[in-house]
Amino acid sequence: MLELHTRAVEGFDTVLEARHRALGYHAFLVIHSTRLGPAAGGTRFTAYPGPGAALADALRLAEAMSLKSALAGIGLGGGKAVVRQPPGAFDRRALFRLHGEVIDTLAGRYITAGDVGVSLEDLETIAEATAHVAGRAGGLGDTAPYTALGLVSAMEAVAKARLGRPDLAGLRVAVQGAGKVGSDLCRRLAATGARLIVADRHRARAAAAAGPEGTVAPVDRIHAVEADIFAPCAIGGILTAATAATVGARAIVGAANNQLAGPEVADLLAARGVCYLPDFLANAGGIISGSAGILGYTEPECLERIAAIGRTADEVLAEAERTGETPLAAALRRAHAALAGGTPPGAAR
Ligand code: NAI
Repeated sequence: MLELHTRAVEGFDTVLEARHRALGYHAFLVIHSTRLGPAAGGTRFTAYPGPGAALADALRLAEAMSLKSALAGIGLGGGKAVVRQPPGAFDRRALFRLHGEVIDTLAGRYITAGDVGVSLEDLETIAEATAHVAGRAGGLGDTAPYTALGLVSAMEAVAKARLGRPDLAGLRVAVQGAGKVGSDLCRRLAATGARLIVADRHRARAAAAAGPEGTVAPVDRIHAVEADIFAPCAIGGILTAATAATVGARAIVGAANNQLAGPEVADLLAARGVCYLPDFLANAGGIISGSAGILGYTEPECLERIAAIGRTADEVLAEAERTGETPLAAALRRAHAALAGGTPPGAAR
């Protein structure tokens, strides 16, 4: 039997817990905000140590989606679903179909897509039960190349504003994670003349992404290698007080969501002269391309919105310079102003 419970969490529009014990289904669906549009954000399917950790992840990720879409000015709110991977055997189709039914109870206020652990096939199963699914096969395809394109545009803004360089040529970029985004980013960076240092848990992936001109670094040292830009493209929470103290780059621009273990880490980085460009600004290419179908964007419109990531980064960096605060503080202010109903300057261009 499906059990649905909503709970009140301050600052969040809707927090729905859904459970079907016989199927091993246990999920949290979080709508952070629908102020600017339906709450969009993927479904994550992974094992969590307990329900508290799963809920905390869903809350953090849903809020980050609100900030990301608000800054990108794409008329979407923020949400996220987290489904706990059952410990033993389970019926994957039945589980994702049920997840679709649960999403459908939110009547379009939440639109899902793929995230960690969810395949295109799983999305098709979800879509059997609800129309509120983005990023299915037949759209613009994999979001990773668009995310990587947005990262390059954000890196160019940082190079100009903080590294005194007109472009990325000759800059050393340390890339953590050579998966879908990281490997595509490496290809684009190599084409701009940047020098690559790459680490991945799968060494062969790192070597392939680094190419003959690049180098491979150990996974536990990539954040500390001497570089101009560090690009976290693997996992969240990589920037802790400990790693911030040893970051070897002058700037950080990467794809991973929630890179900071806590907001105070941005201040620690700034105190060391490291420019941290917020992940929710830099990695918006994924949500922009992934939601093109639901928003009715063509590919050229999508590319134009991705190019705007660089312009927003220019403005955030200039504002941070002017006010003496971190780019995180400046970006948060813009995103919150947009969420509060103001028009985000520079958005939707
Ligand atoms: P992916 O799963 O294709 O790649 C992740 C890579 O990181 C894998 O090659 C994995 O071996 C490696 N890895 C995992 N832990 C590592 C560690 N501790 N050190 C070094 N390497 C490690 O994922 P994808 O799609 O490339 O995404 C990368 C990150 O960017 C994820 O955190 C994702 O949530 C985020 N992101 C992805 C978007 C997309 O469009 N795919 C959009 C926005 C954010």
